[in-house]
Amino acid sequence: MDLINVLNWRYAVKKFNKEKVSEKNVSQIISAISLSASSTGIQPYRIFVISNKDIRQELAKESFNPQITEASHLLAFAAFDSVTKERIANLIQLMASERGIPEDNLEDYKNTLEFHLLGRTNEENFIWSSKQAYIALGTGLIAAANLKVDATPMEGFNTEKLDDLLNLKEQGLRSVLLMALGYRDAEKDFLANQKKVRLPISDLVVEIG
Ligand SMILES: Cc1cc2nc3c(=O)[nH]c(=O)nc-3n(C[C@H](O)[C@H](O)[C@H](O)COP(=O)(O)O)c2cc1C
Repeated sequence: MDLINVLNWRYAVKKFNKEKVSEKNVSQIISAISLSASSTGIQPYRIFVISNKDIRQELAKESFNPQITEASHLLAFAAFDSVTKERIANLIQLMASERGIPEDNLEDYKNTLEFHLLGRTNEENFIWSSKQAYIALGTGLIAAANLKVDATPMEGFNTEKLDDLLNLKEQGLRSVLLMALGYRDAEKDFLANQKKVRLPISDLVVEIG
C-alpha cells in the first residue's frame, strides 16, 4: 500500500478487539519511534510499555478512554522536565562512539547545547521535551499503520496519576501521551467505517509566491 492509502486506512480507534499485536510488530513500531527526529538529537523523553493490568486499570478509572485497558499494548510517552549537563555529556559520548570520532571534535556542539539548553527553566524544558515526544508519537502512528496495526493517540488521561503509578517524578519525567496498539473491532467501533474528515488542502496550505 502506498503511504497515502496507509494514512487513510488508519484512524484513532475507539474500540479494540481482543487480538494481540505480535512482539515483533511492537518492537518494529518502537524502532521506528526511536528513529524519530528530535531537536538537537537528544531524545528528551522515554517510552514505557505498560503491560501491567493493574496499572492500566487504575489509569482507566479516571479516563474516558477504554482503550487504556482494552488495547493489546499501551505505550506511554514521558518527557524530561530538565536537561542536565550529564545528559548532554551522555549524548556527546554516544555520538562520538557511534561515529568513531574523538569527543573533542564535538566540543563546539557540546558548548552550543549547554548554552541553549541549560539556561532554560524546567517548565520551558518540559514543554520543549514534550514537543519532541509528540513528534515521536506521530512516527509511531505511521509505523503502526504501515504494519496494519491500529493505534490510538491519547491525551485524555490523568497525567499526574500515571506519574505516580510509574514513579516518573523520581526519574525527572512527566507523562504526556499514550498510544494504544491493537486491532479495531470493526463491528463495535462507531468510527470504523466513517469517512476521514480533513480540511481541504487549499485551507491547510498557504502558498507564498
Ligand atoms: C495528541 C492527540 C491526542 C488525542 N487524544 C485522544 C484521546 O484521548 N482519545 C481518543 O479517542 N482520541 C484522541 N485523539 C485522536 C483524535 O481525536 C484524532 O486523531 C482526530 O480526530 C483525527 O482523526 P483520525 O486520527 O481518526 O484520522 C488524539 C489525537 C492526538 C494527535
